Amino acid sequence: MNPSIMGCAAMPVRPMGRADSSSTTMIGGMQVRTSVLIGPAERRNVISLLTVRERQMVKILVSYYSKGGNTRAIARAMAAGAREVKGSNVKLKPIRATTLRDLKWADAIILGSPTYYGDMAADVKNLFDRSVAIHGSLQGRVGGAFTSSGGVASGAETTLLSMIQAMLVHGMIVSGHSEGQHYGVAIVGAPNARQSKFCKRRGKQVAELAAKLAGRS
Ligand SMILES: Cc1cc2nc3c(=O)[nH]c(=O)nc-3n(C[C@H](O)[C@H](O)[C@H](O)COP(=O)(O)O)c2cc1C
Repeated sequence: MNPSIMGCAAMPVRPMGRADSSSTTMIGGMQVRTSVLIGPAERRNVISLLTVRERQMVKILVSYYSKGGNTRAIARAMAAGAREVKGSNVKLKPIRATTLRDLKWADAIILGSPTYYGDMAADVKNLFDRSVAIHGSLQGRVGGAFTSSGGVASGAETTLLSMIQAMLVHGMIVSGHSEGQHYGVAIVGAPNARQSKFCKRRGKQVAELAAKLAGRS
């Protein structure tokens, strides 16, 4: 269970023997399930809260490597787009701070790398290589990719495909696009205002697909 949705609280109770009970109630506008476990020795209450709403959220991870800030700017725009999807829970993380737990948590994983010799940067590849430890658990999750390059037609698409290829090996679902930028988002340098809007739209589309596949839209 997600630790953020577990809580312990002491509340006065009448002494009683061992009893386990659970019910649903409304707390702070959310429907929660409460469980009360009371042991005869310690007579303490444990209330575990499992929010129904949290379980219904579509979880999006946007993870990126960026040395100069260009790829980070794309990542921020894509995350902002994903946040526009109702009920989305979006994590935006640098790749080095991204854990295997983050990958397992996400319904959709959107990864970004600068174009490095027509390929993903080593830090991004490193995350994929570490992910062998959870191989099999990303099957059916949604994937998306973005890159910032130094020039036009100088390796951006092969960089996107390098990330998409690894996602496919994980059994992930990657949607192409029938309009421009078929393989994912590729921007030369940092996105300008118009390109940021485009990145936002694409981030939103990935999140919408994840919500649809997870049956939450
Ligand atoms: C090691 C290295 C390799 C690169 N290789 C390419 C390349 O093959 N094609 C290209 O267009 N740009 C290449 N670039 C330029 C970067 O992709 C570009 O500057 C990008 O915007 C950097 O993103 P960042 O600001 O997020 O680090 C390379 C840069 C570095 C440092």
